[in-house]
Amino acid sequence: MKFLIANWKMNTDYKEAGELADFYRYHLKSSRNVHLIVCPPAIWLENLAKKFKNYPIDLGAQNIHWLEKGAITGEISAPMVKEFCRYAIIGHSERRKFFSESDEVINQKIKTAIKNNLTPILCVGEDKQAEGEGHMLSQVSRGVAGLSSHDLKNMVIAYEPIWAISANKDSEVATTSYVTEMINSIRDRLAVIYGREISNKIRIVYGGSVHSKNIKSFLDEKTINGFLVGSASLDCKVFEKIYNSLV
Ligand code: PGA
Repeated sequence: MKFLIANWKMNTDYKEAGELADFYRYHLKSSRNVHLIVCPPAIWLENLAKKFKNYPIDLGAQNIHWLEKGAITGEISAPMVKEFCRYAIIGHSERRKFFSESDEVINQKIKTAIKNNLTPILCVGEDKQAEGEGHMLSQVSRGVAGLSSHDLKNMVIAYEPIWAISANKDSEVATTSYVTEMINSIRDRLAVIYGREISNKIRIVYGGSVHSKNIKSFLDEKTINGFLVGSASLDCKVFEKIYNSLV
């Protein structure tokens, strides 16, 4: 079974979100091989929770605040989103970049998500390919700081090299061997902290310009437990092809 996480980011108005959700529920045939999680803008979670009620499609938030409530204008808390979803993306590179989210803040958010029975999807990734794995691995260690083995087994890590997100050219897309190597190095790092058995069990997905044109090359890699898809998840036909290749 592979995860397929659709991150709609700050796209879709009310009508578009409804139409896209309708396409997902009517056209993507449920399969034991795919676990579909849709992360729409938070304002559409309630409507989509109704639409997906009798469908095997889970919902995720794109972000939560580390506090559960308070005088924080414009933010959304874990207790608010947990009414509608089971997952929460945390530490996406766009949040790190545009909202200066530090590893410490991200670690707090992960703990708040777990406390509220949300499965965190921790995003990590290096800025440039030449940078190597060091910084990305420190995002992993700091992100999971203080978590128990049980917490770790229940979370998802999304490896998303920033240079490969929303790539315009095929040459900017990460190769399968590169992604496999980086994901294995995440498992090695987690093995040092939690032991090999746990690190082999943790679900690690890949994200960064995943498209129907390149998904096939990643499918045979057992270490890649699924995909986080941004722009291609907004295109019904392309997303259907991605979904079907996992089925
Ligand atoms: P992309 O986005 O698929 O559009 O590259 C992935 C992401 O940022 O989560």
